[in-house]
Amino acid sequence: MQNVASSFVYLHKFYPLHSYSMQNKIKRIGVLTSGGDAPGMNAAIRAVVRTAIFYKLEVVGISQGYGGLIDNKIIPLQSHSVSKVISLGGTFLKSSRCPAFYTPEGRTLAMQHILKAEIDALVVIGGDGSFRGAQLLLEEHGLPVVGVPATIDNDIYGTDFTIGFDTAINTAVQAIDKLRDTADSHNMVFFVEVMGRDAGFIALYASIAGGAEATLIPELPSDIDKLCSYLEWDRRKNKTSGIVIVAEGEEQGSAVDIARKVKEKLPGYDTRVTTLGHIQRGGSPTCSDRVLASVLGHGAIEALLDGQWGVMVGQRNGQLVCTPFEEACAKHNEINKKWCEIAYVLSL
Ligand code: ADP
Ligand code: F6P
Repeated sequence: MQNVASSFVYLHKFYPLHSYSMQNKIKRIGVLTSGGDAPGMNAAIRAVVRTAIFYKLEVVGISQGYGGLIDNKIIPLQSHSVSKVISLGGTFLKSSRCPAFYTPEGRTLAMQHILKAEIDALVVIGGDGSFRGAQLLLEEHGLPVVGVPATIDNDIYGTDFTIGFDTAINTAVQAIDKLRDTADSHNMVFFVEVMGRDAGFIALYASIAGGAEATLIPELPSDIDKLCSYLEWDRRKNKTSGIVIVAEGEEQGSAVDIARKVKEKLPGYDTRVTTLGHIQRGGSPTCSDRVLASVLGHGAIEALLDGQWGVMVGQRNGQLVCTPFEEACAKHNEINKKWCEIAYVLSL
């Protein structure tokens, strides 16, 4: 693993570990999924469970993320518990956004249940919010924790891709291909809103792969007048229809807002809006997501046993990399601006 040495330095500097200081004291691990579900979470759970069993650890699953720790929803997991889940979307452990976990009291209650269930270490599969919570369990209670990045948004620093992103962009592109048929048949301009919270990765990839005429993402300034002149220019080149991708965090507003603003300036245009919404979070994970989830889930157990705690296991340039939670949460994956240029050039 890369960064083993630096992560050791980091941990020893900030966490002279208490009762959990010896990695050979880890006998039972817990695994949970938290935040928005992402395709490939099941494949990650499977990898965590099977790798832990390979290393002769016991495994328990926590149902419904941090909410399940607070409500003591803890179930034993065996190898057969994760049979046939690799192809399933969602998360069989279920996930949640848990307001109680933001409070020290909520985390203390969670820790009481962790101790009662004799869980020595925890693998958290989720996004950066989930890692903030995990970091607090380590800081406040000394629990060894490792994170696995899973969110369709692809916005987590420390990994080239997050689990679920590849499936989500394929879902988005399939939808755009279908919308294109109607747009072409009726000379319409479709405004298609994709997810991503405040990141434009889904929008950018869907735009390049779907051949969109224009794309609005939060990372770049946008201008309705310019958008209208692109659309008019397209008409002059005999493009009779169009697809405009709008990332949900776009500063000009939602796809509905943008379609309305365009219609005000170009009243002759037949416009439609489609918000892809949660269909982007569902479905069977792609091969890439299954492989990424398997590698990162396996890496999370090895990181725990290496004594690398308070880190997220990611993949960069084909290598496993551990990034401290604090860094993974403080920084963001940057959009490749060159790719924005390419999306623009190829839409001409
Ligand atoms: P994601 O993990 O996908 O970013 P959220 O931001 O909703 O999703 O976080 C998932 C859960 O993690 C929250 O509902 C909460 O229980 C916990 N969490 C998030 N941020 C914090 C925080 N700063 N302190 C404690 N717990 C947190
Ligand atoms: O983080 C995944 C995500 O789907 C974002 O793209 C979106 O902003 C958010 O979650 C939606 O969350 P919810 O389903 O809780 O409304």
